[in-house]
Amino acid sequence: MRLCILASGNGSNFEAIQEAIMKNELDARICCVISDKKNAFIHTRAKNHSIPSHHVSFKSYMNKEAAEGKISEIIDSYNPDYIVCAGYMKILGESFVNLYPNMILNIHPSKLPKYKGLNALQQALNNHDTEVGVTVHYIDVSLDGGPIIKQEVFEINRSQSKEEIEAILHKTEHKLYVEVLKELGKEV
Ligand code: GRF
Repeated sequence: MRLCILASGNGSNFEAIQEAIMKNELDARICCVISDKKNAFIHTRAKNHSIPSHHVSFKSYMNKEAAEGKISEIIDSYNPDYIVCAGYMKILGESFVNLYPNMILNIHPSKLPKYKGLNALQQALNNHDTEVGVTVHYIDVSLDGGPIIKQEVFEINRSQSKEEIEAILHKTEHKLYVEVLKELGKEV
């Protein structure tokens, strides 16, 4: 199974997927990383694994559609089975999404459909939720609204700090993304 990763930041989900591949737990290959941020740490991570990483600066293009055109040109050159969004902070445009039906995955730190968009954990804490979740879903043209593939929910309590909960969330994300990719890989 061939994967292209789209990301904007740290890349810990990328790292978890790559680790699972290296441990032979996941039969896949990360063909490339593409980021809209030049200094994103994920470029360093990709380099450490000798995985090509590309920077597409949206400022260099006339509009979002043109920048996404460049992203899809890069993606198509790798002929991936899935495009894995892992902390990609831009909303993908309709024409890009329509090019890849049932091929774009995303991970979101909430029990979707609750708390779409940014600061999902903070929203859950503000509402005094007693459980939070992580969701892997297909991307369609709605924000964080495509079909859910897998979700994991865990309880939280008032004695835990936001940082502690965040750490559990990230660990859960790393596990869940690998589990989903394993499942999807059976169909490739
Ligand atoms: C994750 O929390 C993910 O749910 C969200 O962005 C974050 C990316 O983290 N979409 P990382 O870059 O993989 O470390």
